[in-house]
Amino acid sequence: MRHQGTSQTGVHAAVGRNAGCLTNRVAGAGCACTSTGAAAVQRTTGGARTVSGFALIDGELCAERVPLSAIADEFGTPCYVYSRAAIEQNYREYDTALAAVPHLVCYALKANSNLAVLDLLARLGSGFDIVSGGELARVIAAGGDARKAVFSGVGKTAAEMEAALEAGILCFNVESAAELEALDATAGQMGRRAPVSFRVNPDVDPQTHPYISTGLRESKFGVPIGDAPTLYRRAARLPHIAVRGIDIHIGSQITTLAPYREAIVKVIALVDQLAAEGIALAHVDLGGGLGIRYRDEATVELADYAAMITPLFSGRREQLLIEPGRRLVGAAGILLTRVIYLKPGPQRNFAIVDAAMNDLIRPALYDAWHPVDPVRPRHSPSREWQIVGPICESGDFLAHDRALSLEQGDLLAVGAAGAYGFVMSSNYNTRPRACEVLVDGDRAHAVRKRESVTMLFAGESLLP
Ligand code: LLP
Repeated sequence: MRHQGTSQTGVHAAVGRNAGCLTNRVAGAGCACTSTGAAAVQRTTGGARTVSGFALIDGELCAERVPLSAIADEFGTPCYVYSRAAIEQNYREYDTALAAVPHLVCYALKANSNLAVLDLLARLGSGFDIVSGGELARVIAAGGDARKAVFSGVGKTAAEMEAALEAGILCFNVESAAELEALDATAGQMGRRAPVSFRVNPDVDPQTHPYISTGLRESKFGVPIGDAPTLYRRAARLPHIAVRGIDIHIGSQITTLAPYREAIVKVIALVDQLAAEGIALAHVDLGGGLGIRYRDEATVELADYAAMITPLFSGRREQLLIEPGRRLVGAAGILLTRVIYLKPGPQRNFAIVDAAMNDLIRPALYDAWHPVDPVRPRHSPSREWQIVGPICESGDFLAHDRALSLEQGDLLAVGAAGAYGFVMSSNYNTRPRACEVLVDGDRAHAVRKRESVTMLFAGESLLP
């Protein structure tokens, strides 16, 4: 079932339409909302519930209670817009679903590392999955608890290890024998012991895009599960290493439970084998990867994910860690863009918008499908449009073949852009990166300023 009032998927009519409209704090936003402003909930046959926070209210798309046109007027376009209520609700849903077992949600901030997003998750008690010294610095700058951070990634440098040891992180997810030795040496120089998990590669196929599959034997990630006992024995003997847990992350945008089950069963067998040898682990980290609905994917319900996991963990001594990224923030963000020109042609019609592949690279990189909705849907007949940006590459597209009724100057919302959107943006073609706005009820907060062109070459210099 598609929700009422939208021409496409991705943004959805709000749940309930009976609460009065509160003052809108965005300049010029004449709010005519009659919605509760609660995060919009999407549920379609065979698909998981995801909370987006975007809804059509009285003929205009709103982020919670703020009309997107008001955000465009105030902050300009292109602009990423996130819903606080949606992110919080998605986090709570995880926390509640896993309530039966001791657990820690470690938000994978590579999905969206804006400080405001980290701040609101930190306030809810979230831990963090970091993959660089930069991400650690973000967690600390946002007031997050570094003692709830796990550090993943195949190429941690000595400097990054030092910073993480200094911050007292929960665990290093070690991905190779060489990294283990380097970590032992770095911790030794600092007079510390480094808490470690091995990221094991369970050799399962997550049935997702090859670029985001990570748990196959041929992948660069993790250590082969068969090598893990030897590595754990080595780690247990190293003076500056404290064996703490085990970790997997099999891929991203996973839409079925079977690969998770297969991987978890293998990992738990290994945990028991290690315990029998006297190497007791304190936690099992199942990584992230649960997919969201971009188009019509039959995604996994969190309740089903939890129902699969909790029996495997009940009565066990290890704490459960998970590292969701996309599922917490993906649906909770849109990329707001304006049509610069319409260019109908003999073969194809192009709608040239002010956002491009440098702002949202997922369509170009993964052939990803994102919903595109007009902010003020028109009732005139639609045409098929190619939604493209101004960049000088044919791969610069946001969407192909969308039936829309468009006019020059119209605003469009590219949906499900809250994860791997802004964070993967670049300055290609010397395009300043977009601003980011976080909406909280009837308020829109600028949480990242738009870059200026001079900022882009501020670090460059002419020859002497
Ligand atoms: N943990 C680790 C170790 C990871 O490498 C990742 C994502 C996650 C957790 C979070 O995965 P999630 O729950 O978000 O699926 N740029 C791609 C996605 C790359 C994912 C990389 N690793 C995209 O736009 O689809």
